[in-house]
Amino acid sequence: MKILILGNGAREYSIARAISKEQEVHELFFMPGNGATSSLGTNLNIKDYNKLAEYAKENNIDLTIVGPEGPLVDGVVDIFKAKGLVIFGPSKAAAQLEGSKVYMKNFLAKYNIPTAAYIETASIEDAFRFTNTLTTPIVVKADGLCGGKGVIIAKTHDEAKKAISEMLSGKSFGDAGRKVVVEEFLDGYELSMFAVCDGEDYILLPAAQDHKRLLNNDEGPNTGGMGAYAPTPLVDYELYQKVRERIIRPTLDGMKKENAPFEGVLFIGIMVVKGEPYTLEFNVRFGDPECEILMPLMTSSVSDMFYKAATKRLSEIKVEFSKQYAVGVVMASANYPYSNSTPAEIILDNVYHEEIEKYTHISYAGVSLIDGLLYADGGRVLVCVGVGDTIKEARDRAYLRCGQVHFAGKKLRTDIAYQAL
Ligand code: AMP
Ligand code: GLY
Repeated sequence: MKILILGNGAREYSIARAISKEQEVHELFFMPGNGATSSLGTNLNIKDYNKLAEYAKENNIDLTIVGPEGPLVDGVVDIFKAKGLVIFGPSKAAAQLEGSKVYMKNFLAKYNIPTAAYIETASIEDAFRFTNTLTTPIVVKADGLCGGKGVIIAKTHDEAKKAISEMLSGKSFGDAGRKVVVEEFLDGYELSMFAVCDGEDYILLPAAQDHKRLLNNDEGPNTGGMGAYAPTPLVDYELYQKVRERIIRPTLDGMKKENAPFEGVLFIGIMVVKGEPYTLEFNVRFGDPECEILMPLMTSSVSDMFYKAATKRLSEIKVEFSKQYAVGVVMASANYPYSNSTPAEIILDNVYHEEIEKYTHISYAGVSLIDGLLYADGGRVLVCVGVGDTIKEARDRAYLRCGQVHFAGKKLRTDIAYQAL
C-alpha cells in the first residue's frame, strides 16, 4: 500500500517502523515527518489539508494515518473522506472527546460512564461554589486543547480558585480556558489503555503506563511523557473486562447515538481506585511514548489493522501481540519542557552488541537531518525501546541502548517502569 502518516513525532516514526518491517512492501509518506522518517519514506511539506487530500488523491494513497490530535480536531478526516480517501482517525465531531473537556465530561455523565464528580461552567461563582464542596486536592481543567498543560492539581481551595480565575479570564490559556471543568481528585494508580475502533467494533491493546513528570520519582514538571512500558502487570483480566464493559462499549454505543461514531484510537486515561476504573480523560489518538512500545509488541500486521479499522472491517481480523514486554525511555533536550534548546549533533556508538541489535531500537522524534548528520532539535528527541521476556529485561535493554546515544544536554529518567519492578 501507499501510506501517508501525519505527524512528526516518535509515535509516527514507530508506526512507520512497524509497517516497514512487514512482509508486504509499502511506500510511506510523511507530513511533515522528521529528520529520521526521511529514511523510511518521503517527507512532504503540504500544510493545507485540502491540498494534502488532493495530493493523496493524485498519488493514489491507499491509507492515511493521523498521529496527533491537532489535525483531527481541525477536521482532517472529514476533508479526506469527502474526497473518498481512506483515512484512520476520528471525524471532527468525534474528536471533541479530546478537543473539549466539557464535551467529554458531559458525554460520560450522559452515558453513565464512571468518571470523577465535576462541574463544567463558564461562571466563576458556580465554579467557586462547587470548589467549596470539595476536599483538597482539587482538579481544575481548561476546556480546550492546551498542549497537555491545561490541568491544575490544586493543593488548597485558594490555589484552585486562582487557577479558575486565571482560566476563565483568558489569562492562562486564552479561549481554551473560557470554560472550565472542576472535579474531585481521584486517588489511585493511572493506566493508559488504547482501543483501536472502527465505529462499531474495537481491538483493545495491552495496557501501558506512562511517566508524565520530568524527573525520577515522578517529580518535576509535567511533560508529554518521559517513558512508558507495557503490558503492565497492574491490570488483570477482571480489570480489562470492567474497562471493556463500563467504558469502551458504552462510549462506542454513545458516540453512535450522538451521530459521531468513533473511528480511530480511543486512548483512555484511567485512574484505578480500589480496583474500579474511572475515566480521567479521553484522547483520540495514540499516546506518545505509549505507541512506541505497543507497536513493537504487535505480531500481526499493523498496516492491516489500521486499514481494516478505517474501512469498518475490524471484525474480520485478529490482532496478535507477542508475549513479551516493551519499555521505552525518552531522551529529551537540555531545556525541555521549558524552552527550545540549541540543536546538538546526535552521536551513536557504533560498537556491535548483539543484545542491543536484536532487542532494542530507537524511535526518533525531535531530530533534523543536516548534511547527512542527525541533530537533536526538539523537546523530546528520541525514544530508546527495549523488548524482553520480563519488564526488567526490557528495561535493562532500553537503558543499554540509551548508553549508546550521545548529544549535548541530553536528559532522561533512570527509573522508567519502576511501578512494575
Ligand atoms: P488529563 O489531561 O485530564 O489526563 O490530566 C492530566 C493528568 O492530571 C492526568 O494524567 C492525571 O495524572 C491528573 N489528573 C487529571 N484529573 C485527575 C483527577 N480527577 N484526579 C486525580 N488526578 C487527575
Ligand atoms: N503520553 C501521554 C500522551 O500522549 O498524551
